[in-house]
Amino acid sequence: MRIDVVSIFPEYLAALDLSLIGKARLQGLLELSVEDLRRYTTDRHRTVDDTPYGGGAGMVMKPEPWALALEDVLERGAAAPGPAAPGAGTPPGERPVLVVPSPAGEVFTQAVARELAEREHLVFACGRYEGIDERVVDWARERFEVRPMSLGDYVLNGGEVAVLAMVEAIGRLVPGVIGNPESLVEESHSDGLLEYPVYTKPALWRDRPVPEVLLSGHHGRIARWRRDLQLRRTAARRPDLVAALDPAALDRADRAVLAEAGWTVAGDRVLRAGPDAPAGPVA
Ligand code: ADE
Repeated sequence: MRIDVVSIFPEYLAALDLSLIGKARLQGLLELSVEDLRRYTTDRHRTVDDTPYGGGAGMVMKPEPWALALEDVLERGAAAPGPAAPGAGTPPGERPVLVVPSPAGEVFTQAVARELAEREHLVFACGRYEGIDERVVDWARERFEVRPMSLGDYVLNGGEVAVLAMVEAIGRLVPGVIGNPESLVEESHSDGLLEYPVYTKPALWRDRPVPEVLLSGHHGRIARWRRDLQLRRTAARRPDLVAALDPAALDRADRAVLAEAGWTVAGDRVLRAGPDAPAGPVA
């Protein structure tokens, strides 16, 4: 997979040299480059922003440096070796994805991360100030599949932190990046539920024992206990995820745990049992 990031703070992205993503880059599983947007300015002050038409607070990013930077990234992507070779380029017919981090974007979820992990070429455009001139997005739609993307309902100072999060979430799903792919199966959001709690040695720590079932060696009971905790946690912390569960994926024991937490299955939907429904215990 090839990833290009364009930013006025390229140093912000230095964290992508570290840990699993840094290792994947060294191994050639991810080809990641970071471009300084100011390289594509033409004035002495390397200006990337200007005042907004229509008035209002703050500054807006000028369109031309963005177009020049994105054209450069496209050219380099097209020149890269094809996906069969290491350090893949864009396959013919597949447009690169341009991710534009913005609090006004579609919410970035594990499902989106999975989808983007399948693509050959991702480009991230880090906006600052009040954002990028909207015409850049319209122009880019002719060359890229454009995805304005939000990390969540809060406002960051710019796209860089969001890109660090998205590149990590996507990069770890690229085959070979995580040594043990089993660990991707049981983590939060892999099956629409939050992860179960985990414990390690010692079995008794500061008067707190590890739940006994985990010491039993009984795999069936351990799996059931973990599943129960996933359901209870999800019901307590993320009712939106419970409401999105597919009843076909819930067995009788699942339904009993959800009922205790105040949820019921009605036809093909999972619904709150009633306004006074009890909230089940959470671990
Ligand atoms: N830029 C500013 N706020 C953001 C957010 N919540 N998600 C993604 N990019 C952003």
